[in-house]
Amino acid sequence: MNLDFSVLSGYIPYVLKGIAITLLFTLVSALFGFIWGTVLSLFKISNIRPLRWFANVYTSIFRGTPLLLQLVLIYYATPQLFQYDISPLMAAGLAFGLNSAAYLSETIRGGILSVDKGQREAAMSLGIPYKTMMISIILPQAVKNILPALVNECISLLKESSLVSVIGVEDLMRRANVVGSDTFRYFEPLVFVGVIYYILVLILTFVAQILERRMRRSD
Ligand code: ARG
Repeated sequence: MNLDFSVLSGYIPYVLKGIAITLLFTLVSALFGFIWGTVLSLFKISNIRPLRWFANVYTSIFRGTPLLLQLVLIYYATPQLFQYDISPLMAAGLAFGLNSAAYLSETIRGGILSVDKGQREAAMSLGIPYKTMMISIILPQAVKNILPALVNECISLLKESSLVSVIGVEDLMRRANVVGSDTFRYFEPLVFVGVIYYILVLILTFVAQILERRMRRSD
């Protein structure tokens, strides 16, 4: 068998630097996706029909087309429309965030509906305004209920961030490819970054477990 992990030795710092980039892209998309997903979920449960319609069409389009297509469309095609040279971070943050928001809007909508109706009625009878009620009463309970699904989404984003390698960003995935083309050996660098991705997901899962336990303490 032709296997020699020692070819990696000189490249390890180079590959490890990709971790920060992968995490940066994941964080930007997760934040944007969560905020936009929350807004969309509120549209979906609102009484205003055009908002509901917009959010449903939006979700259908962004869930119904490949994420890779959305990414390259935003990165390579928007400059043609707007004469604007979009940065890879912005393009990826937009593509992953917009896509994730489509999935999250459904998750968050489910979470909001899972909060007991009495909470809303009590807030309304106390004259609490809609915005305060949502931000301080309903959403915190909804988020607690959907925490496992949110963790799933973060894991998806972390792994899907590897798609940015196609627009030239030197994330973990691309660095593995660079090492491969440099050494003419692909197996070792690819397995190496595979292990790094897996460890990152394990850490995320562990942090989420702690968070969940703390949130359950109030029950
Ligand atoms: N790989 C899927 C696609 O090509 C994207 C899945 C994203 N999933 C998610 N929960 N954000 O569209």
